[in-house]
Amino acid sequence: MTQTKQKQIILPKNFLLGAATSSHQIEGNNSKNDWWYWEQQGRVPKSGQACDSYNRYKEDFKITKEIGLNTFRLSIEWSRVEPEPGKFSVAEIKHYREVLQELKSQQLTSVVSLHHFTLPLWAANQGGFKSNKVIQSFAQFAKMMAQELGDLVDYWNTINEPGVYVNMGYIQGFWPPFSKNVLDAGIIYYLKFVKVHKLAYQAIKSVDPNAQVGLAKNNLYNAPFRPSSFLDRLIVKFSDWYGNYLFLDRIKNHLDFIGINYYFTHTLKLSLTRGVEHIKIGGLSSDMGWRTYPEGIYHVTRDLYQRYKLPILITENGIANAHDDMRQDFIWQHLLWLQKAMSEGVQIIGYLYWSLLDNYEWSDGYGPKFGLVEVNMQTFERKVRPSAQVYKKIQIKK
Ligand code: BGC
Repeated sequence: MTQTKQKQIILPKNFLLGAATSSHQIEGNNSKNDWWYWEQQGRVPKSGQACDSYNRYKEDFKITKEIGLNTFRLSIEWSRVEPEPGKFSVAEIKHYREVLQELKSQQLTSVVSLHHFTLPLWAANQGGFKSNKVIQSFAQFAKMMAQELGDLVDYWNTINEPGVYVNMGYIQGFWPPFSKNVLDAGIIYYLKFVKVHKLAYQAIKSVDPNAQVGLAKNNLYNAPFRPSSFLDRLIVKFSDWYGNYLFLDRIKNHLDFIGINYYFTHTLKLSLTRGVEHIKIGGLSSDMGWRTYPEGIYHVTRDLYQRYKLPILITENGIANAHDDMRQDFIWQHLLWLQKAMSEGVQIIGYLYWSLLDNYEWSDGYGPKFGLVEVNMQTFERKVRPSAQVYKKIQIKK
């Protein structure tokens, strides 16, 4: 903290400073999706009542506002809104309208995702996004949400982290549908998800041509282990193209902004004898063993802006840190690096911390504590962590 305290953070007018969440991780009782199904089968930890945010969203937004944030990212649970194919729930649509209206009445900007890792069980049973029928249904859902809720949504994210979803569900096999099929993974990532995004983008735009539509893409900062090595630089170029750009290149004409989830830096080494190696360097480790490297956010955003010239919204960046001794500096450092990128002309419209609350961290259950706010999982009592004070030290130009 010593080194960073000397600098000030003054963000541009209208900068979106906020926190991010997703439906299955905080709402509770999302019993009609594929995760819930597999939770009951014992394949992944049970999410149960999660943070009970389905009922406590007003309190969550109040805290968001009080700690000094102006933006909230949430996702709409497709399985609630369309529990059976083609049958939309009037009650659930009304619920999400109330949620978004509450955001407005607390003067919080809304960022809304349509897919954040979960699928209605019926859509999963139809083959998930491998199936064109499901892709069409998703576009229909997107259109319906734009019609019913569009007046209350400031920014849309069609999908969250297509790469992570495919890697965890179709390559590593840790998440539903627990597949380990590289061919399927390639098809879903490079063909199907491109279609999912484009159709959802068009569906929203057909309702409101002025809607701001993007997606949340996880990009890494790839750095050469030996900057002077041709091979290390070559593998960095390849990894950037393959992991960071290939997907975005295919949808770049269907984006109003790019949402970026930044968590990782990979230092890469390529040798003829050992192939590709990820070398762990510097940085503190989070409770999940993830190394922090704030400078990476500068490179990721700068490179991205040079390539696409589109506004960038940091849709996620966060740290699992139960002791709360690293979070404040983590946020501060990342914002400092973003400030540097902006001073060099990179258009960054906001920074959303992951996450407002301790929540259901997928196959890691309730272990990791990412929250600015601690949640008692029995009583659901919320307790703001000291690190959330960091936002009081940050200025946004008027
Ligand atoms: C996801 C979140 C997740 C977070 C921390 C992102 O990959 O979008 O759902 O909780 O990272 O792992």
